[in-house]
Amino acid sequence: MHEENAARLLLATLGKSLFERGYSVGSAGNISVRLPDGYLMTPTNSCLGRLDPDRISKLAPDWSHLAGDKPSKEVFLHRAFLTARPDAGAIVHLHSTYATAIACLAVPGDDAPIPPLTPYFVMRVGRRLPVIPYYRPGDGAMEPAVHAAALTARALLLANHGPVVSGATLTDAVHAAEELEESAKLALLLRGIPGLRRLSAGQVEELL
Ligand code: 13P
Repeated sequence: MHEENAARLLLATLGKSLFERGYSVGSAGNISVRLPDGYLMTPTNSCLGRLDPDRISKLAPDWSHLAGDKPSKEVFLHRAFLTARPDAGAIVHLHSTYATAIACLAVPGDDAPIPPLTPYFVMRVGRRLPVIPYYRPGDGAMEPAVHAAALTARALLLANHGPVVSGATLTDAVHAAEELEESAKLALLLRGIPGLRRLSAGQVEELL
């Protein structure tokens, strides 16, 4: 129980931090955390900046709703990711502006819509960032596509919707989501500029 309470408090603290720095607006985004006896998930229509730790949804290992407010409509998305990646302890889904801009430009099926420009993008997000076709938010039909992509990638983009990022811990997932957003911003700032230098294949390889 101590572990769960600590996770509830950390989720509220990091949600507020993301919101206050503009990584999430309104009630956009949702976060899940794996626990020994199930999952925590942000409630549907909640604002990441104002999460009440006691009202965060608790789900059973079979993903049924146990306690707290009604969970995010994106439970399928989180289930697909956490099932595919036993190494992941948390998932962060945002509508952060620059990563979402890339999600509107990239072609579904592409798996590297952001070039490796800086080492921390490669270290935190990984080499691959698959782009999943568009699905209506909360559409359970996205689950197989998300699951398949998450088997070989730590993060992905939902076309015309936004990024989904995993991490070994909640803090790791938040750091990776921030790194992805800043890398998307850099990629758009530098797009088409002559002389733009990417990391070489060898430089990428030694970071993985
Ligand atoms: P929820 O409020 O149900 O979590 O949905 C928000 C969202 O970001 C949809 O993609």
